[in-house]
Amino acid sequence: MKVKELYKDFYTVDDAINMDFDTVKNLQETYSNKLKVVLSGGKYFKKAENANFIDHAGNKWYDMMGAVGVMTVGNNNPFIWENLEKVFKAKSYAMGAVSYHNIAAAFYRNLALTTPGQKLTKAQIAGGGAEAVEGALKLCKIAKRNDPKKTKILSTLGAFHGKTAGAVSLGGKDTWWAYQGRLLLDQITHIPFNDVEALKKELSSGIYQGFIMEPIQGEGGVNVSTDEFIKTAREYCTKYDTIFVADEIQTGCCRTGKFWACEWWDVIPDVMTFAKGISGGIIPLGGYIAKPEVYDAAYGTPETAFHHTATYQGNAYACAAGIAALQFMLENDLCAKAQENGKFIMDAMNAAWKKYPGIIKDVRGKGCLIGVEFEPVPAAKKEKYGKNWAMECERYFSEEFRIQIMHSFNNPKVFRWLPPLTTPKEDLVYALDAFSKSVEHVHGLSEE
Ligand SMILES: Cc1ncc(COP(=O)(O)O)c(C=O)c1O
Repeated sequence: MKVKELYKDFYTVDDAINMDFDTVKNLQETYSNKLKVVLSGGKYFKKAENANFIDHAGNKWYDMMGAVGVMTVGNNNPFIWENLEKVFKAKSYAMGAVSYHNIAAAFYRNLALTTPGQKLTKAQIAGGGAEAVEGALKLCKIAKRNDPKKTKILSTLGAFHGKTAGAVSLGGKDTWWAYQGRLLLDQITHIPFNDVEALKKELSSGIYQGFIMEPIQGEGGVNVSTDEFIKTAREYCTKYDTIFVADEIQTGCCRTGKFWACEWWDVIPDVMTFAKGISGGIIPLGGYIAKPEVYDAAYGTPETAFHHTATYQGNAYACAAGIAALQFMLENDLCAKAQENGKFIMDAMNAAWKKYPGIIKDVRGKGCLIGVEFEPVPAAKKEKYGKNWAMECERYFSEEFRIQIMHSFNNPKVFRWLPPLTTPKEDLVYALDAFSKSVEHVHGLSEE
């Protein structure tokens, strides 16, 4: 029986590929969350290639957010696809959670090669960022299970670690805690990011199983750790026997100009989470990688070995995408590209800041993770243009020039650059020119 005899309006993949925009819109708004799409600008990209999209009307767009830092290797990178096809042709067994698996094994090993000092060597795979953080959180708790004094986890305000129950509790923004009871909040302390005294005070209490921080808070507004904060975190975690977790989900995979952002500070965490760029944005993949003694303290006993499993861990296609993305990043020196392109963007942002200090308040970041903080809109104009000039700048930039961009989620006054690291210079030149016109436009409104 053909499926359309069973359900006459069942859509096959061929139907979906050829679907017209009105049908797409109608189906998605009816059968999924309409507001999530509409409030995000209601865009529809039919094709994606490197740093460009083509929308349903055939217009070319420029991708300057890379699906919030996912597209380090560019959209639909052909090298990743070629490698996925190889796995398909080899008819590999897809699932690698609890059996030996050649592709998962190779991914684990390759990932360990990239870690700071090659000291983090035992990995656990997850389906994405939040699940990776969830895994790291459980690792801290289970590794410290025999120490009754250690009862809590330390995190930072403004942090974003994902939206599952544990990850959202670690996050430092109360908006995302709403309507879910106490979550894990009673087990977590949040200190201000970059507050060294608070960090020392909390860690020296000796009650923390783990401390988690992003080397650069992405969603929090591109807040770069000070040298003192991240180095003190390392020092005090060692001194007070607390597991130091660096959440590298947004900052890893060459995004900041080093393979892992921690390398900027010569800091070796005990655990690093990864996701986003690790699989080239084609197949969901995340996880964490830990020092072997830390991993084994949690899961190295028959009693605990199965305390954090999931059916898709070690999936062949996800791991193959991971291997291919790692190979592509290393062979094409995407860290150097992130530094070069990042400097190009940063110079332009600093020039715009210098020209319009009343509109732009700060510019910060590393590599191709750059934030531009905008000044508040004067009270009389707030209703029309929003709380800060970032909103209007972003709207104009996107609508007038067809550029995909997004502010920081936990800090909307920060306009954020996260282009694919493979973005060609001419696309950057186009986007930077568009940015300077957008700031000029905003400046004109502020003078009205
Ligand atoms: C630092 C950090 N951790 C965790 C996450 C959550 O990842 P995911 O959206 O894949 O769950 C994000 C997502 O933006 C992130 O930036």
